[in-house]
Amino acid sequence: MSRKKIFLTEEKIKHRIEQLGKEISLAYLDQEVMVVGVLKGAFIFMADLVRSLTIPVKVDFVAVSSYGFSSQSSGVVQIIKDTGQSITNKQVLIIEDIVDTGLTLHYLKERFLAREPKEVKICTLLDKPARREVPLKADYVGFVVPDAFLVGYGLDYQEKYRNLRDIFIIEV
Ligand code: IMP
Ligand code: MG
Repeated sequence: MSRKKIFLTEEKIKHRIEQLGKEISLAYLDQEVMVVGVLKGAFIFMADLVRSLTIPVKVDFVAVSSYGFSSQSSGVVQIIKDTGQSITNKQVLIIEDIVDTGLTLHYLKERFLAREPKEVKICTLLDKPARREVPLKADYVGFVVPDAFLVGYGLDYQEKYRNLRDIFIIEV
């Protein structure tokens, strides 16, 4: 059993998501957005965020693997599941749990842009800028976090802890 320390409570996360929902709804005002969640980590954040949006949304998912079974990035990004709908001419909002090195979203964004969407924006619950390896700026950020390994609320360590309601720092 690894040691965990609470970092963000369920209440804090909920409050921040309500703010993000308002901010994003205002920015898109009556325009339709194609919300694309990055599995698996973003599934809980995405479920809460889309319910805080008051604009028309379509929902899709991609699954990407960049870490394998370790807490260190291999730097290799692999698409395991692509979007089921076309993103051409759509306003795409990618939803991610955490931006770390930036490699995953850098790759995904480039790949999406090649399909000629109207635009591609990024919303991440957590941003760990200290570990960035490629320049990647998210358009909407829930919380800027320190260089520590976080679990809970969708985030895993070796596929565990995704179901925790709060976010914890874990010693790995
Ligand atoms: P990046 O490509 O290095 O930006 O990594 C993005 C992915 O790495 C995220 O979608 C997470 O799945 C995973 N990741 C990065 N940092 C953490 C963390 O602190 N806890 C859990 N997963 C993480
Ligand atoms: Mg992830």
